[in-house]
Amino acid sequence: MRIGILGSGLMGGKLGTIFARAGHQVVFSYARSEQKLKKLARDAKGNARAGTPREAAADADAVLLAVHWLRMEDVLDQAGDLSGKVIVSCSLPMNAGDTGLVVAHTSSGAEELAKRIPKARVVSAFNTVPSEVLFGVFEARRRATRPGLVYCGDDKSAKAVAAELIQDVGFDPVDAGPLRIARYTEPFALLVAQLAYEGKGGPELAYRFERIPRATLSRRL
Ligand SMILES: NC(=O)c1ccc[n+]([C@@H]2O[C@H](COP(=O)([O-])OP(=O)(O)OC[C@H]3O[C@@H](n4cnc5c(N)ncnc54)[C@H](OP(=O)(O)O)[C@@H]3O)[C@@H](O)[C@H]2O)c1
Repeated sequence: MRIGILGSGLMGGKLGTIFARAGHQVVFSYARSEQKLKKLARDAKGNARAGTPREAAADADAVLLAVHWLRMEDVLDQAGDLSGKVIVSCSLPMNAGDTGLVVAHTSSGAEELAKRIPKARVVSAFNTVPSEVLFGVFEARRRATRPGLVYCGDDKSAKAVAAELIQDVGFDPVDAGPLRIARYTEPFALLVAQLAYEGKGGPELAYRFERIPRATLSRRL
């Protein structure tokens, strides 16, 4: 796939690098220095280059949105027309101090984003893991047991694209349902961050969902 990265920081830089190493064509965009984007593209050692947000989005099969909530308007303005595009957003609607969500309970950052770009096909994914786990998960991707990663969205084919990317990084994609479920996954992302940075286990924390067969459950009860 051709993947445009809008926001090449901790998440966008790492995910873009992994996408390139997994065989995708990547355009890194939106950082404060062009040198940084060029270095990311060089270091990715795959099919990657630096570009403007408009270039990153123009021919993309999927766009990864990875900017702070306060930068959203600016990056969308710079990206131009995103009609029909698959937008995989890992952005959380955090306040300026990163202490809490500014959208919650009755909506989510992902839903507000979808209202802002109604002709795009928004999927919420990758925001429930700390960026520190990403390279480790990619390196361990051939192991039988993979960590799970939840995603949600309203467009079936856009979700299939996101699931493929999630798998390429090394996670088991866990379909959490329609985009409105982001109201629950976004606060869950804060729980994961809390556990990762302040709880035991540190930022390498990733998680796994397991189905417990009913029979086992009733035995346990
Ligand atoms: N980091 C995580 O572990 C994590 C986990 C889950 C969800 N998220 C969410 O993912 C999103 C991205 O997080 P992040 O940690 O990757 O953020 P980040 O490291 O700050 O990256 C944001 C990118 O935006 C760029 N940027 C900021 N201001 C700019 C400006 N004025 N002009 C041009 N570019 C500008 C930054 O440029 P520079 O590269 O020059 O700084 C950087 O490339 C956020 O919404 C966050 O809530 C992050």
